[in-house]
Amino acid sequence: MEKTIIANWKSHKTVEETRVFFDEFTNLLFKTPQNGKEIIIAPSFTCLEYATNFTRANDLKIQISAQNVSEHEEGAFTGEIAASQLKNIASCVIIGHSERRRLYNETEEIVAQKVSLAKKAGLKVVLCLQNENEKVENVDYIAFEPPGAIGTGNPEDPKSIESTIQKIKEKNTTAKMLYGGSVDADNAQELAKVPSVEGFLVGGASLSPESLFQIISLC
Ligand code: PGA
Repeated sequence: MEKTIIANWKSHKTVEETRVFFDEFTNLLFKTPQNGKEIIIAPSFTCLEYATNFTRANDLKIQISAQNVSEHEEGAFTGEIAASQLKNIASCVIIGHSERRRLYNETEEIVAQKVSLAKKAGLKVVLCLQNENEKVENVDYIAFEPPGAIGTGNPEDPKSIESTIQKIKEKNTTAKMLYGGSVDADNAQELAKVPSVEGFLVGGASLSPESLFQIISLC
């Protein structure tokens, strides 16, 4: 089974830093190709166009994802970016990350609205869930991301990852199941053995090309 690794850069990297990352990361991929792995990189809005143009020009099998999208189709929503505006500069979008639910008051209704507009625009959706009780939408990927494991250096216990993903799957989703929260090059191999885990959503450890490459090669 092809493992999926998604790099969530959050509010990090300028366009110039994105350029440097892609140069180094693609050098690593050219030296040691990672066939059979699905790689998705999610930079900030400002770097999406650069990243998409770079992957197209170099014929790379790396998909580019946004980290958020507006819950409105279009209109007078200053500062918001609509799904239709993302379409040519990204192929996926992350929706419902726990940081957005907590810091920007995203409710389940807002998350559902974002999913629906993203799908309508033809984007693939990565839905983040903090537990099995959150509403599951019809999406392409579901990332189980317990907030206590995010950015702490302490990933969730493998048994608890397995049992939560099993419960999410009981909701009849066909989404690919990912785990996120303090995944790094030291624990990726172990976490990749959790039976229901089909990939990772990686934050901090995805910022360095070497570290992201190592995680991918360990999956
Ligand atoms: P982390 O973040 O890998 O830095 O814990 C994961 C995420 O928030 O997606």
